Amino acid sequence: MSALADMLAATGGHKLVVTDGVFSMDGDIAPLRELAALCRAHEALLVVDDAHGLGVLGPQGRGSLMEQGLSEEDVPILIGTLGKAVGTSGAFVAGPQLLMDYLVQKARTYIYTTAMPPVIALATCASLDLIEREDGRRSHLQMLISEFRQEASALGYELMPSRTPIQPIMVGDNWAALALSQALEERGLMVTAIRPPTVPEGQARLRVTFSAAHSSEDLATLLSALADCRSLLNRPSAEVV
Ligand SMILES: Cc1ncc(COP(=O)(O)O)c(C=O)c1O
Repeated sequence: MSALADMLAATGGHKLVVTDGVFSMDGDIAPLRELAALCRAHEALLVVDDAHGLGVLGPQGRGSLMEQGLSEEDVPILIGTLGKAVGTSGAFVAGPQLLMDYLVQKARTYIYTTAMPPVIALATCASLDLIEREDGRRSHLQMLISEFRQEASALGYELMPSRTPIQPIMVGDNWAALALSQALEERGLMVTAIRPPTVPEGQARLRVTFSAAHSSEDLATLLSALADCRSLLNRPSAEVV
């Protein structure tokens, strides 16, 4: 935040600040209230990509902005994807009419890309209805997340400070992350290894991603596989290769 404050203070003209709501690799949540206050003080436009917050956080799954009590005055532009919690595909930008008109006229990817098929739009509407009314799915998801955090930490895995469904297991070494991912795959679990340049050097990890469709049995399978594979992380990387 202080680096951003310095940059905003040192920049003239139009200023645009773009952030994720929930960061896709660490699962942590942006300090949107502070960002909104800073942007207001420096007359910068704040854009939030809430790909991983929509459907999951806030009342009725309305996302990071609603969870942090922010309105469209605080965050004028919201980007959301439909391929995560919504379970379809595509994305949207919500914002002031002037900007929407501008994007419709000028956004090349919008103008020259095949339009969303009506069937996807309809499926998206059905998903939004479910997201809006099924708090039970969100509480089930939270139960999976908190049980996972408790049990995986007890097994000696290093987790990151995330309360969202993105739960990275920090490994560090690239090969060890791959070996762990492969060992889990052999046990029927798909947990991808994320390596540089997607994350900084030395911060390779497994990205566990929970969904409301996972059952308690699925979680138990994951935890027992993690218990079996824990020793993989103790080996020197040459041996893992
Ligand atoms: C923050 C964020 N925004 C946008 C996207 C892109 O989503 P899509 O592949 O549905 O276009 C991703 C993908 O993971 C993401 O993490």
